[in-house]
Amino acid sequence: MDKNLNFDEIKKRRTFAIISHPDAGKTTLTEKFLLYGGAIKLAGSVKGRKTAKYAVSDWMEIEKERGISVSSSVMQFNFDGYCINILDTPGHQDFSEDTYRTLMAADSAVMVIDGGKGVEAQTIKLFKVCVMRKIPIFTFINKFDREAKDPFELLDDIESVLGIRTCPINWPVGCGKRFKGVYDRRKKHMLLFKAAQAGMKEVETNELSLDAIQTVIEKDFYDKLIEDMELLDGASDELDMDKVSAGELSPVFFGSALTNFGVETFLKYFLNMTTSPIGRNANGRIIDPMKDSFFSAFVFKIQANMNKAHRDRIAFIRICSGKYIPGMEVYHFQGNKKIRINQSTQMMADERKIVEEAYAGDIIGVFDSGIFSIGDTLCADGEKIQFEGIPTFAPGYFARVRQIDTMKRKQFTKGVYQIAQEGAIQIFQEFNTGMEEIIVGVVGELQFEVLTYRLKSEYNVEVKLDRLPYEHIRWIENPLEVDIDKIQGTSDMKKIKDLKDRPLLIFINPWSIRMVEERNPKLRLSEFGRD
Ligand code: G4P
Repeated sequence: MDKNLNFDEIKKRRTFAIISHPDAGKTTLTEKFLLYGGAIKLAGSVKGRKTAKYAVSDWMEIEKERGISVSSSVMQFNFDGYCINILDTPGHQDFSEDTYRTLMAADSAVMVIDGGKGVEAQTIKLFKVCVMRKIPIFTFINKFDREAKDPFELLDDIESVLGIRTCPINWPVGCGKRFKGVYDRRKKHMLLFKAAQAGMKEVETNELSLDAIQTVIEKDFYDKLIEDMELLDGASDELDMDKVSAGELSPVFFGSALTNFGVETFLKYFLNMTTSPIGRNANGRIIDPMKDSFFSAFVFKIQANMNKAHRDRIAFIRICSGKYIPGMEVYHFQGNKKIRINQSTQMMADERKIVEEAYAGDIIGVFDSGIFSIGDTLCADGEKIQFEGIPTFAPGYFARVRQIDTMKRKQFTKGVYQIAQEGAIQIFQEFNTGMEEIIVGVVGELQFEVLTYRLKSEYNVEVKLDRLPYEHIRWIENPLEVDIDKIQGTSDMKKIKDLKDRPLLIFINPWSIRMVEERNPKLRLSEFGRD
């Protein structure tokens, strides 16, 4: 127990993930947040797109080439008495598993939606993992300085596609060239639209009461606003913070990140409404950061070779209780070993810095010599707790992977295994055929490309991928009770095994799964691999 722990440090922490469809404005919004926190001086420093500089989160070459954020990163800054940790997430839904892991480390999520597009088809999967995680989701509908969809339609979109209720906190008046501003439903005043100049922090705000608005905006806009308010007051959900906390109701804000309009209001409301670090489940009880003062944390992400010169590997850990200080000795539950963590780093907008101290709610990157796996627990010696694991998503794409140059078997195996340890791919082998060939399963197809690219650039191995037609996977829950060799399969079924030699079945057609279950009544199949 740390008797000197300052719980106020923990109370002021806000740890959240930002999630969006590519191009909806996540980078721009993050940048504006950092600007408020004084973490950067000029907008454009996070991602000077035109100067061919890249976002601090874009660590990997491939991200630069493709312009998508493959890996998530973390940024910390202070604003308005809060200490804020922003977790960036990949904008492509092929990496939704990575997004899910990042959400495990977050206490809430901000979902950025392009007002002109609404919930985009390619984003549904990505946003759904947010809903699955059952944490508070705050929606920022962006780009109202451009032509946008009808706000009611946008809300409908979120509700019907994502299955979550919405509660608009403010409401847009007009859009595009005729964007007048946003009306704050709680304070009952309107913020008149005025774009900030590029790089400026403050937007000169002009707040008007409903009466005063009449004299400033055209009658048709005013009438529409009154009509919309009546409709909303009658039909939309009340702001019920219990429902928000349970991830059932999303407070919605409208604005324009680029022109810095509505960003500060959003940030302030959000910080006020969202929670300080929430507890995590370990050994059937909640480790409460406001009560438990011992250090505890779990690994939610492993990233290799961020610095090619060192070929290092960093395990990102979310601190769940207590305080971290450099050089502290902790117990690594899965390794059943005491270890010392020192070299930990944290992202500060545009640089990596050494962490002097960190508290529950913070995310730090610790040097990993290869001992950590995703979901591992670290805790103060003597506590021996284990946090609930992070689920593995069932891969839906499979390929046989082999190295082109047979002399490079060693590098190939090392590369594939290390990348699998990071959770980017899952590896399997043929079951009982004696063949050593590696079958890779991924959640999103783009991960195959990342694998090929990384094997070449980091391990100097060229590979050939032969895609397999399988799309569904099932773990065998009771391998000791059934004779795997005698399973009555179907023509589109294949037996494989995972790294722990556990047998699995993969299928081309979903209906075959039922047929196999019917043919083998003793067989129990599961969609998830449990550790
Ligand atoms: P992302 O991280 O979600 O992928 O989106 P990002 O912030 O990079 O924004 C994507 C594009 O949308 C950028 O334009 C950005 O300037 C623009 N944008 C973001 N927010 C707003 C907004 O509120 N209003 C308008 N009109 N545009 C917005 P780009 O052309 O790709 O880059 P740049 O040339 O502007 O730098």
